[in-house]
Amino acid sequence: MQTIQSVNEMQSHAIGLRSSGRLIGLVPTMGCLHEGHLSLIDIAKEKADKVIVSIFVNPTQFGPSEDYAKYPRMLEADIEKCRERGADIVFNPSVDEMYPEGYSTYVNEERISSGLCGITRPHHFRGVTTVCLKLFNITRPDIAVFGQKDAQQCAVIKKMVADLNIPAEIVIGPTQRDADGMATSSRNSYLTDQQREEASNISKALMMAQEMVARGTKSVDRIVAEVTHHLMGSRRLRVIYVQVVDRDSMEPAREILPGKQLLCVAAWAEQTRLIDNIQL
Ligand code: PAF
Repeated sequence: MQTIQSVNEMQSHAIGLRSSGRLIGLVPTMGCLHEGHLSLIDIAKEKADKVIVSIFVNPTQFGPSEDYAKYPRMLEADIEKCRERGADIVFNPSVDEMYPEGYSTYVNEERISSGLCGITRPHHFRGVTTVCLKLFNITRPDIAVFGQKDAQQCAVIKKMVADLNIPAEIVIGPTQRDADGMATSSRNSYLTDQQREEASNISKALMMAQEMVARGTKSVDRIVAEVTHHLMGSRRLRVIYVQVVDRDSMEPAREILPGKQLLCVAAWAEQTRLIDNIQL
């Protein structure tokens, strides 16, 4: 497995791979790799000949009061995990490589990004779309694999790819969950045991909602009220949103249409912002 830090080297390598007919799979990450990321490498390996994992903590997707500085960085361990999982290349550029002095171009998706996390993290998706388009241009993927846990991010990226005619297929891998139901996330590493115990109520509430729908509940208000009530029973959790949305447009739903919608939750577990979602 190769590691590449230079944008030019990565780009010319990718162009070479493509011209020799290899299908390139990209797994974009910010590192601190867990089973969720590693399962995306498995998917990329099934669908592509060469798998590139990018590891880059992208400063433009963090707000000024967010956790950019403290975001966990463990490059050596991450590289080892990529090697063990069978990735071909780790691309881990520096911030200066990606955003050199004077950098001033950003990509804005204006519809899907506006609700849910877009309300409380107003510049987040602009940073995500910008870095993903840069990563696509540098690594020239035929397919790029993202995790369903970041459902709004998936929908925004798919829309950017469609709107800007980017010749890559976006593949979404299922959310990986730990034994207590928590969706795997790099930010889970911030949680104390007590916070983690209460945070696991997020996935429990999502599963409860899924059962309500399976038993015939059609009212969005009822689902949202029950989930909110469940989460408010945890002293360490503060709900940011509980919303049922169309899984593609992320528009709020008026009634439950099983199979077409997601129930999305964001909550603070004290200082840690967590998100999760489930298909209804
Ligand atoms: O999901 C993430 O880790 C990041 O948002 C991504 C897609 C790697 C862009 O920095």
